[in-house]
Amino acid sequence: MPEGRYDDLNPAPRLLMGPGPINADPRVLRAMSAQLLGQFDPQFRGYMKEVSALYRGVFQTQNRWTLLIDGTARSAIEAALASLIEPGDRVLVPVFGRFGHLKVEIAQRYGAKVVPIEVEWGTVFAAEALEKHIKSCKPKIVAVSHGDTSTTMAQPLQELGALCRAHDALLYVDATATLGGMDLPADAWQLDVVSAGLQKCLAGPSGSAPLTLNERAERRITRRRHTEAGLRTPGSVEGEGPVIRTNYFDLAMIMDYWSDKALNHHTEATTMLYAARECARILLQEGLAAAFRRHALASQALTQGLAAMGLKLFGDQKHKMANVTGVHIPQGVDGDKVRRALLQDFNIEIGTSFGPLHGRIWRIGTMGYNARSDAVLHTLGALEAVLSAERFKAPRGAAVDAALAVYRKA
Ligand SMILES: Cc1ncc(COP(=O)(O)O)c(C=O)c1O
Repeated sequence: MPEGRYDDLNPAPRLLMGPGPINADPRVLRAMSAQLLGQFDPQFRGYMKEVSALYRGVFQTQNRWTLLIDGTARSAIEAALASLIEPGDRVLVPVFGRFGHLKVEIAQRYGAKVVPIEVEWGTVFAAEALEKHIKSCKPKIVAVSHGDTSTTMAQPLQELGALCRAHDALLYVDATATLGGMDLPADAWQLDVVSAGLQKCLAGPSGSAPLTLNERAERRITRRRHTEAGLRTPGSVEGEGPVIRTNYFDLAMIMDYWSDKALNHHTEATTMLYAARECARILLQEGLAAAFRRHALASQALTQGLAAMGLKLFGDQKHKMANVTGVHIPQGVDGDKVRRALLQDFNIEIGTSFGPLHGRIWRIGTMGYNARSDAVLHTLGALEAVLSAERFKAPRGAAVDAALAVYRKA
């Protein structure tokens, strides 16, 4: 034992109302305490198949290749872009927040000629603008966020898939922040690759990233299949395309690993697979439509409550994500001090913000396990008390009353 005292691990009972992570559903935590299995154990391979089937339900797809990337949500973004992008490919990235910039940066690292297009934070792209840029840029790949937690905006994507197909581009969608909380039918919207993380609307911890890809994407990826020398057999078929420039995030290898070939790649993060399975199982048991309604209702109750308190909501409300709300920090109020008081006095965490929005807005998440009336009501009541201590004149009780009225009417 090294010098010093090491207490029991005993995290404070926080209510995580930021833009993610949020509190995990207790059933997910229970699933994570199950004993480990070897990754080639037939029972474990059965669980992998169940995970694929469950996430087909979550992504609303028939895609054979529906699997997990071992890592946080960004690992699946990297796997998708690294495996789709061949050096010199033109990649169009609509940027409406921090996570658009992330895709620009990852695509550049893999040798793409990236064409970023930007709108002001707090807004999204009009369909005509996207069409115009796709026509002029002629990209091989379009990479876009569905919801960007940094701005709390959600980009409408219903028509983008068809547009990409008409112009022979593949469409990658980062649904980290919305999967399970907002509708995103991968097949109906013709999304070629979609990925997510567990720590937002899926009510799990971060560390596993569900991903689905269709046959158009599969063709692009498998032409770059490369088998590690130590695993090659006389029957191994190598692709004719350029080798994918990452081993860990090589989707061709990961597909071989998830297939019945069970070709060795990484050691599966067993506990995270249990978590991912439970997240999807719980969500599908509730039903997607019911989960979307629950998120929309929590958003409505929170925004009505904030407005009743006299606070101003951030951004284009028509395109606000259902599960994260941006709210302006009132003039004269120290945003960080309020967040500290919420944490210390009420055990409630809300989010700060990045880049141009830093110090201007708070971000409050109502997602996954925390898209519940009691979580919304506690947060509003606590925020009102803390703001009053900061001499912000909020009509006492109005926020909770307004939120309760939304829930009573539903
Ligand atoms: C849209 C989006 N993409 C990617 C990420 C990165 O996820 P992770 O931190 O799990 O890698 C986030 C996290 O907030 C996100 O909101």
